[in-house]
Amino acid sequence: MAVRRSIRFLRRGKVVQLDNVPPMATLLDYLRLTERACGTKEGCGEGDCGACTVALGALRDGRVVYEPVNSCIQLLGMMDGKEIVAVDDLQVREGGLHPVQCAMVECHGSQCGFCTPGFVMSLFALYHGGEAPGRQQVNDAISGNLCRCTGYRPIVDAALKSCCGHATDSYARAADATAKALRGLADAKDVFIGDANSFFAAPAGAAALAKLYGEHPDAVLVAGATDVGLWITKQLRTLPKIIHLGRVAELNRIEDGGNDVAIGAAVNYEAALPLLTAIDPDLGELLRRLGSKQVRIAGTVGGNIANGSPIGDTPPALIALGATLELRQGRSTRSMPLEDFFIAYGKQDRRPSEFVSRVIVPKLKPQQFYRSYKISKRFDQDISSLMGAIRITLEGSQIREARIAFGGMAATPRRARVAEATLVGADLIRQATWSSAIEALAHDFNPIDDFRASAAYRMATAKGLLTKALLEIAGTPTSATRVIGHRETMYAGAA
Ligand SMILES: Cc1cc2nc3c(=O)[nH]c(=O)nc-3n(C[C@H](O)[C@H](O)[C@H](O)COP(=O)(O)OP(=O)(O)OC[C@H]3O[C@@H](n4cnc5c(N)ncnc54)[C@H](O)[C@@H]3O)c2cc1C
Ligand code: FES
Ligand code: FES
Repeated sequence: MAVRRSIRFLRRGKVVQLDNVPPMATLLDYLRLTERACGTKEGCGEGDCGACTVALGALRDGRVVYEPVNSCIQLLGMMDGKEIVAVDDLQVREGGLHPVQCAMVECHGSQCGFCTPGFVMSLFALYHGGEAPGRQQVNDAISGNLCRCTGYRPIVDAALKSCCGHATDSYARAADATAKALRGLADAKDVFIGDANSFFAAPAGAAALAKLYGEHPDAVLVAGATDVGLWITKQLRTLPKIIHLGRVAELNRIEDGGNDVAIGAAVNYEAALPLLTAIDPDLGELLRRLGSKQVRIAGTVGGNIANGSPIGDTPPALIALGATLELRQGRSTRSMPLEDFFIAYGKQDRRPSEFVSRVIVPKLKPQQFYRSYKISKRFDQDISSLMGAIRITLEGSQIREARIAFGGMAATPRRARVAEATLVGADLIRQATWSSAIEALAHDFNPIDDFRASAAYRMATAKGLLTKALLEIAGTPTSATRVIGHRETMYAGAA
């Protein structure tokens, strides 16, 4: 396979080619320090505040879509094949204020203005979203943008006023030309910039990835960089060898196998959301609250699993569903139950030069019922203190099988095997028959105290979540158990 020793992206309608791409260079540094396009701001430098938001244009089903990302933790090399739209560009392309900027002025959406470029770019992406958003969609769209002085009401007003579902700006008018230019950038060549000691690489296929990683098992794999980006900006680590997975065709696939869904390791949360939501609405609600729009556009389920965090949101949710993890090393692949991947804190069952290729998530069978809950201090953009998920299989109202998984209760995401065993045989609609399973969680876990939650809080909450799940499945309406994220009762045989 031919190798390209440069990256290419679109800026203001023109192709930019860079032959020198330091592996750790961030998009924000490129914009501010190289281009001197300083409208894009740096606030936190860790994906939390949204001041650095830019929109990336890419082709989806032949159409140009714009999606917001945090430029502070996106690597420059990851921009290959994309259109980069930064706040400075709007004035140039529009010859005046963009419609979302006009609305921000008219609705008084800016005071000190430091957050404003980031909000404008999140709204720019929403403006191009193809449908007029309601208030909840606007809130979701700006969940990754912090404002400390204006307050959100005028910004939400500006969004509702300007994002009418029909984009007419210069970007919409140039959509055909942009699509053509993006198609021109989409070759299937492997990108490799640097030398054997220091490089940024973006292989185009799984075989090339396996070969390169085999030659450089010390390289760092990067999917969405929402974790790795912080190793650079906050931990100040030196990462001389980066292999980006975003161009690996096989890892970007989602396959609906009828009874299951296979999610490639480089598929981002936004792309995985519809299929996971179709398995169960609680998964959709969980993903809506995972990070922010910017984090979900970049971050991947594969990265969430591979990083092995005890408080990653998706591992417990998928373990309860019985997901299987697929890994590849060289030409060989192996599979394991997802829970077996997590060996100990910071230690996963991954061999040198082995990478996660897919996670296969079974759909619910008839008589299987699922719930998952994220507990965090803030609604949006917050790491979980606790994450709980359960799937039960019923025969009549009797529990035949149970899978319960928690994050934040141990050094790894873990199943509650004692509670699971205690639940089997219980009658769902007679609480007295399953209350011992709730108490059994004390045998499964000995949670830690830390700044996110005390051990006592974690244990009490885990018990509460398991009780809530069983009551809900037994027929208690979610209007009685939830403040938000209500869902219809799934168990038809409820009393
Ligand atoms: C502001 C912010 C908010 C966040 N909120 C949440 C949250 O609410 N819930 C949550 O769970 N997480 C959250 N995160 C953490 C992060 O977004 C997730 O863990 C995300 O899923 C990581 O995916 P990624 O593709 O960005 O991984 P990357 O940063 O690219 O990689 C993460 C790790 O996985 C490895 N890796 C990636 N892909 C593979 C592969 N295919 N094979 C082997 N190793 C691989 C990398 O080498 C690295 O060690 C947040 C992060 C930020 C910055
Ligand atoms: S600077 Fe805060 S998210 Fe990037
Ligand atoms: S206007 Fe000052 S932080 Fe938002």
